[in-house]
Amino acid sequence: YIITKLLYEGKAKKVYETDNPNVVVIEYKDDATAFDGTKRGIINNKGVVNNLVSNHFFKILESNNIPTHFIEQIDERKTAVKRVQIIPVEVIVRNIAAGSLSKRLGLEEGSILKRPILEFCYKNDELHDPQVNQYHILALELATEEEISKIEEYSFKVNDVLRNYLKQVNIDLIDFKLEFGRYRGDVILADEISPDTCRFWDTTTKEKLDKDRFRRDLGNVEEAYMEILRRLGLDKK
Ligand code: C5P
Repeated sequence: YIITKLLYEGKAKKVYETDNPNVVVIEYKDDATAFDGTKRGIINNKGVVNNLVSNHFFKILESNNIPTHFIEQIDERKTAVKRVQIIPVEVIVRNIAAGSLSKRLGLEEGSILKRPILEFCYKNDELHDPQVNQYHILALELATEEEISKIEEYSFKVNDVLRNYLKQVNIDLIDFKLEFGRYRGDVILADEISPDTCRFWDTTTKEKLDKDRFRRDLGNVEEAYMEILRRLGLDKK
């Protein structure tokens, strides 16, 4: 694929148009932001880790019949993906209470939820991504009922597949965020799945191996991202 122009630059990624109208190239950056962009920094090699980790997960999900935007990796920071129309809804799936859920509902961080929780947020920077439910999504025409059911079905399936996979490498999948896009009339998984968008805890020590190390100034941020690469067997590539 030949990159023709920069389409969009976000906090952690750049997206390029290519000579193929159905394909864009994502470039993962080392820039990190948190708390609505108020905290900024650099996590060395984060872009490389997130590219490799996200592609690895997307391949596993594809082999479990979950359609994704993944096409092929170009280099250590770039990947070709299907050009989708992003549905402006962020989906959060949670297995263990942490982060904003702990705060909102007064649940101790680390408490096990009886069953997974699925939440929606309206993807809107000016409004700071407010939480919404199916009724808001339908009333605002952010997605159709059919799209919402597909999104829920795929999200719980992603949770099952990744939770079981990560268990084998001694990692607990606490929670994560997904984004979906429209592609040729279907809903497919888009964006990324990485230590930026998931909470990963070591099963034995409960050590945090994700972006919370940056958000909360816990130290060893780069080391945590590298450890995820190692656990997934992607460090030798
Ligand atoms: O902050 P909160 O507890 O709601 O985050 C839940 C999960 O969703 C975490 O894994 C976090 O990394 C992810 N998330 C994200 N992007 C956002 C909000 C949350 O990747 N804008």
